[in-house]
Amino acid sequence: MPNTPEPVLLATGISKFFPGAIALDDVSLSLYPGEVHALLGENGAGKSTLIKCLTGAYKKDSGTILLENVEVSPKNPQDSLSHGIGTVYQEVNLLPNLTVAENLFLGWQPTKHGLIDQREMVRRSQDILTEFGLDVDPTQLLSSYSIAIQQVIAIARAVELAGKVLILDEPTASLDRDEIEMLFTVVRRLTARGMAVVFITHFLDQVFEISDRATVLRNGRVVGTRILSEVTQTEIITLMLGRHLAAVKEERIKNKPGDVLLSLRNYGRRGTLEPFDLDLREGEVVGLAGLLGSGRTETTKLIFGAIVADRGTAELRGKGIKLDNPRTAIGNKFGLCPEDRKIEGVVGDLSVRENIILSLQARRGWTRPISKARAEEIAQDYVKKLDIRLASLDMPIRLLSGGNQQKALLARWLATDPDLLILDEPTRGIDVGAHAEIIQLIQELRQGGMAMIVASSEMEELITYSDRIIVLRDRRQVRELQGDAISINSIISSIAEEEAAQ
Ligand SMILES: Nc1ncnc2c1ncn2[C@@H]1O[C@H](COP(=O)(O)OP(=O)(O)OP(=O)(O)O)[C@@H](O)[C@H]1O
Ligand SMILES: [Mg+2]
Repeated sequence: MPNTPEPVLLATGISKFFPGAIALDDVSLSLYPGEVHALLGENGAGKSTLIKCLTGAYKKDSGTILLENVEVSPKNPQDSLSHGIGTVYQEVNLLPNLTVAENLFLGWQPTKHGLIDQREMVRRSQDILTEFGLDVDPTQLLSSYSIAIQQVIAIARAVELAGKVLILDEPTASLDRDEIEMLFTVVRRLTARGMAVVFITHFLDQVFEISDRATVLRNGRVVGTRILSEVTQTEIITLMLGRHLAAVKEERIKNKPGDVLLSLRNYGRRGTLEPFDLDLREGEVVGLAGLLGSGRTETTKLIFGAIVADRGTAELRGKGIKLDNPRTAIGNKFGLCPEDRKIEGVVGDLSVRENIILSLQARRGWTRPISKARAEEIAQDYVKKLDIRLASLDMPIRLLSGGNQQKALLARWLATDPDLLILDEPTRGIDVGAHAEIIQLIQELRQGGMAMIVASSEMEELITYSDRIIVLRDRRQVRELQGDAISINSIISSIAEEEAAQ
């Protein structure tokens, strides 16, 4: 923690108003050289907005920013970068159709005789990638790498450019443990050099692991700044929510699933997922566990027909069915809430209302539009049920906070009242309070007879609501855990045993 009494960055009285929402109300934040400062708060609390005001991505309505005691007023993120403030935004904003090297050097390409020096750019990219332990070819298109790797590339870019302050807005949401380790190693190296790092996340364990202090926002106001070694997680959560967190029932609820809904035999796709068998009953939740890249997402897509199986058979209520197209799946009352809300989920420019009724409308067919009044009713209902924070259902969904977009996406699929709901990382980017609500919701839906397949990296959650857990590794199902055999230890050892057997 700071020995120097001088903050590197001092923001005071920052306010930001949007039509219908006070996103920030007189917010102050100090950053000391060498500290990791967590910025915490519920979905919609104002974290991303604060960052955007600091970097000039948004124009603040009031307040001042001092950088090493000099007032600065960055006009845009590029400008703030030139002041030494590097940022990785919540939604990766790189360009998938450029190469990795071009993305790393966008806006500051090395030149030679007035031209971009490609060789130099690739060489320096290689150095940066190696420092991050990434086995990535800088000459390949960014889009040829997974979202997680793209995220690390975005971080590498910001680190490379930031001199004084590095801001990371939910950088770890799609990273696995090794990648998080790597990121933390880099963060520690930077703070040792005297850089200040702002870390936004909903993973409180990570907050306590890496951060020195935390500032908590609630409804656009600072409710406190704490030295983390002096507080408990419970205190921080209470500060965030303004109330105590209702305890999530840890014990697994006994459940009696109904008839077999979907039955897959020797089902798979070469190079994507080894063939597997699955019988899924009504009112049954099957959890998918495994490391990143183990085939969880592929399993969800295969069942939804977004990836087409090239072997095996599928039966729905005992009748043969071809799951070769998401449209067929939707027609059969399947729903898939995908992992990456930005790419496969929200339609940014459509209103929140339109986004919520999108799948229901698709199933009815576009020739039979849902009336505006009905749409309003449905959307309102889910806004209430899922506590989606917004100024109006008419606002484009991209203006919602990240976590609230995620909830709206869940609403979209719930609105179709599916027989089979497939959820891929349903609580990613969702705050602690809403986490508990979503787990509760999964349990209620199951009680109501909905069949569900839930892929999640949150093992504690998986074991609370899953009747069975399928453990995947290297795109292969390695174990199925049932009843009392379900525990975090058994999941971990299933993954590890396989690793040892390799
Ligand atoms: N451009 C905008 N227009 C209108 N409202 C906006 C805009 N940007 C943000 N908001 C609103 O400001 C509030 C704060 O949003 P912000 O994205 O800062 O939340 P957050 O704390 O980052 O939440 P999350 O954890 O979900 O990412 C939200 O109510 C959001 O809808
Ligand atoms: Mg945010």
